[in-house]
Amino acid sequence: MSGKNILVTGGAGFIGSHLAQELEKRGNNVRILDNFVGGKQNLNYFDDKIEVMEGDCCNRDDCKKAVKGIDQVFHLAAHAAEGQSVFIPEFNAQTNIMGSIVMLTEAINAGIEEFAFTSSIAAYGKPESVPIKEIAKLNPEDPYAVTKKTFEDYLRVYYEIGQIKPYIVRFFNVYGPRQRMDDPYRGVVPIFINKCLKGERPLIFDDGLQKRAFTYITDVVEPICDLVGKEKLVNNPINIGTEEVYTVKELAEMTIEKMKADVEIEFINKRTSDVKVTYCDTSKAKELLGYKAKVSLSEGMDKTIEWAKEVGAQDFKYFDYTEIPKLTHKSYTSKKI
Ligand SMILES: NC(=O)c1ccc[n+]([C@@H]2O[C@H](COP(=O)([O-])OP(=O)(O)OC[C@H]3O[C@@H](n4cnc5c(N)ncnc54)[C@H](O)[C@@H]3O)[C@@H](O)[C@H]2O)c1
Repeated sequence: MSGKNILVTGGAGFIGSHLAQELEKRGNNVRILDNFVGGKQNLNYFDDKIEVMEGDCCNRDDCKKAVKGIDQVFHLAAHAAEGQSVFIPEFNAQTNIMGSIVMLTEAINAGIEEFAFTSSIAAYGKPESVPIKEIAKLNPEDPYAVTKKTFEDYLRVYYEIGQIKPYIVRFFNVYGPRQRMDDPYRGVVPIFINKCLKGERPLIFDDGLQKRAFTYITDVVEPICDLVGKEKLVNNPINIGTEEVYTVKELAEMTIEKMKADVEIEFINKRTSDVKVTYCDTSKAKELLGYKAKVSLSEGMDKTIEWAKEVGAQDFKYFDYTEIPKLTHKSYTSKKI
């Protein structure tokens, strides 16, 4: 793939900003579309070759302008806070379902075929067995996960009626530099790092024995760039991430140790939708893309902590909005995280 005109939605975000730069580095002309709800801080990493367009995926005119002259879309824009989605289902669906549909519609109207979408391990829900293979049933257990499954279905439908070539990647627990540290609702790695920077106790929901595979940013950005254009991967969802599994408690202990923080872990009540053990099998990515995650958790944490120290501790930004107050976890209402 070289010299294409590529649109990255959500391109000011954590993964989107890294992706935009990698696509540009590979010789493409890159435009990003973002409404900057997640901030503009990552634009500082761009050179002026990346075209920045302010706009909303839920707005048809914005999407129409964004797809003009474009060959491929990488659709990342989303409200990506899984735990929070339980108490803001309407807002979540508006961005993740309606915004995705509007973007897809305008891509089709513009004659764009190649459309990559960042789905999530969340779409599998509570797995029957781990590691989860792509053939596992999608059984989402929270509204965020429902939106990912739903949009995968939309993509399949428009593929089956010959309109697009979807490339669906299911990421899991991506972390690294540029991930927001001020967001109390998502990203256990940056939350733990920020807590340690502030000299506060990292909070763990439940007993901390939840198992996850934490994937360093470059281990998702390179494969997503590689897969678009590979016929075998059209409408063929693929897990992308590491198979190195840790408990959340081990992650907290590693963060405290690496940061030499004088703090202890605090355990609090479980959230409604946390899955105990979930990680993916990536043998399909290995077979079809020659993919293997390269960065160990220890190495990735070192790089992320180095970046976080440069940026410095952040105040958590709370979202004073809930659609279902009784489902809003008290750690959020008490602003404890
Ligand atoms: N980070 C992970 O661990 C992970 C795991 C699985 C899947 N994903 C998916 O990858 C994608 C990127 O995730 P991320 O971690 O970089 O999130 P992020 O929040 O850092 O980035 C999302 C970006 O989308 C923008 N955005 C939100 N609503 C928008 C709208 N209506 N119109 C235009 N822009 C909008 C935000 O301003 C932000 O810049 C998301 O689709 C997410 O669901 C992420």
